[in-house]
Amino acid sequence: MNFADSEIVASVLKNHNYKIIDDYKNADIILVNTCAIRDNAEQRVRNKIQEFKHLKRKNPQMIIGILGCMAERLKTKILDEEKFIDMIVGPDAYRDLPLLLNEVFNGHKGINTILSHEETYADINPVRLNKNGVTAFISIMRGCQNYCSYCVVPFTRGKERSRDAFSIVDEAKMLFNEGYREITLLGQNVNSYYNNNLNFAGLLQEVAKINPLLRIRFATSHPKDVSEQLINTIAEYPNICKSVHLPAQSGSSRILKLMNRKYTREYYLDLIHLIRSKIPVATITTDLIAGFCTETDDDHAQTLSLMNQANFDFSFMFKYSERPDTKAANEYTDDVPEEIKIKRLNQIIALQNRLSLQSNKNDIGKIFEVLVEGNSKRNPDFLTGRNSQNKMIVFPKSNFKQGDYVNVLINDCTSATLKGEIIKKQF
Ligand code: 5AD
Ligand code: SF4
Repeated sequence: MNFADSEIVASVLKNHNYKIIDDYKNADIILVNTCAIRDNAEQRVRNKIQEFKHLKRKNPQMIIGILGCMAERLKTKILDEEKFIDMIVGPDAYRDLPLLLNEVFNGHKGINTILSHEETYADINPVRLNKNGVTAFISIMRGCQNYCSYCVVPFTRGKERSRDAFSIVDEAKMLFNEGYREITLLGQNVNSYYNNNLNFAGLLQEVAKINPLLRIRFATSHPKDVSEQLINTIAEYPNICKSVHLPAQSGSSRILKLMNRKYTREYYLDLIHLIRSKIPVATITTDLIAGFCTETDDDHAQTLSLMNQANFDFSFMFKYSERPDTKAANEYTDDVPEEIKIKRLNQIIALQNRLSLQSNKNDIGKIFEVLVEGNSKRNPDFLTGRNSQNKMIVFPKSNFKQGDYVNVLINDCTSATLKGEIIKKQF
């Protein structure tokens, strides 16, 4: 999401004749788009800011701005700690950047952390910062009001709002015409999208109809908002990718209730079964949090058993990090000791590695249609791309290029990657 937001920021500034350069050390203006989801995300920003402080000592004219969720969460408090920072700009204020820069040029601080109920940046054509020319993000909604008790996002990104459907379809068409072959529809909670009489399944259909060669992905879905219509739509259109990211967070219904996730373990597993029965080839991935308030060994064991039952192909796994002002911070106690959180997280990671390896081993001998994204970073004689299931595949180069679809026979794997060889000409 931040990556897509940075593309909007780049576009706003480009329209005002600012230029992006490759090495920030030579920049006149450094804007840091920040995340506040966990404390370690904020710590990383703080460390980076120290580096910028040194740069600014050498070049006092340099302007440094903090953008995004950390700016929104801390507002001018950041300035109390770090006086050399010139701008604080929240996620709904990026149109204001040229004005705020002018404020700084005039010797003031540039500050706007006002959240909007309407802003979707629908009319802004993002500058594509991903240089492969094949895959691109389209932001379709902003904000979130699910108020999961651990989560800072509703406070930093404000109310949920869906972007105009026509502008989304137009952007997807434009990307396809420019040569892009895979778009990811982005939002905090994409499956509660609603605009122009289209729900998320309806929007997916409209985008899928643009061209069968345009692949569509989406993230992130909330389990409570997955409809049968959505599952049927994914099953029906070959170019809607067969991978569903469905954050579970925990396998314990008691913890899920405390997290305000609005579903139970049983509901979640039923949903997984429904998806697997209607789309047997789909991969299912998830987010998991270890060590939420009051989590017992038994709750944790239920998370491990949920992982086994759901048979996740991949997970993003986190240690619970208390975020100020959330319900969990205000009303619960962060009472799982750090070493227990680490132990549980490590168990979750070890189990996921086994599940991912098994999932990949099951693909050996299968043939997948792969969209070529570019050269392998490790070995220039190899290409990389993904299959519909969103698995990364590495295979020896031939005369194919970025944006081509190739058929790859899988002959080896690790827990993170599939390896194979091209078996048929381009189609
Ligand atoms: N602590 C740890 N993980 C969190 N996430 C969100 N808030 C927190 C938190 N306070 C995780 C959730 C979410 C993902 C984007 O980040 O798993 O799905
Ligand atoms: Fe945070 Fe929950 Fe919203 Fe996701 S759905 S952004 S976890 S509040």
